[in-house]
Amino acid sequence: SDRKANPYSHLFKYIMVGDSAVGKSNLLLQFVDKRFSPNSDFTIGVEFGSRSINIDNNQVKLQIWDTAGQEKFRSITRAYYRGAVGALIVYDITRRETFEGLANWLTDCRKYSSTDVTIVLVGNKCDLEASRQVSYAEASSFANEHGLLFFETSAKTGSNVDEAFEQTAKIIF
Ligand code: GTP
Ligand code: MG
Repeated sequence: SDRKANPYSHLFKYIMVGDSAVGKSNLLLQFVDKRFSPNSDFTIGVEFGSRSINIDNNQVKLQIWDTAGQEKFRSITRAYYRGAVGALIVYDITRRETFEGLANWLTDCRKYSSTDVTIVLVGNKCDLEASRQVSYAEASSFANEHGLLFFETSAKTGSNVDEAFEQTAKIIF
């Protein structure tokens, strides 16, 4: 196809959304830089990162927009769904309220992204097993019900972080 002949067309825009402090910025930091920041600041508006990955011998550049979870930024971040082919909706497995807010994020994703956006549910902070408030089974069944991919990750240890970004890209590709 034309797409396969043109390396510059392998550019996928992703957006990351979810409540404040669930770990979106650290997931991006881990994916792009293999780093973790124990005392990171709230994101103001949006931040941006990118990394190229290999899918079936094709170079694919992921252009990732990391949005602010705080409510006061909601109207700004809504502008960034446009053109996204992948959306990561992140919650924190140790804070149940961040799981209960998922329906709102899903509504925004469906409303403001393109219709064929691939949406991934990400339960972050799985290194904090002792503080878990949302079971894998419950989140997995929520994901099934809404047709989402699902991963539990840790931005701290790096567990499943590459997988969440890369599996999404494979489905889009
Ligand atoms: P906003 O920008 O306000 O939307 O927050 P955010 O979702 O970007 O959260 P951020 O990445 O800033 O992380 C919030 C806090 O959680 C920070 O203190 C991080 O160090 C911590 N954190 C993030 N991911 C993990 C994780 O996987 N495990 C643990 N233990 N802590 C994490
Ligand atoms: Mg952030």
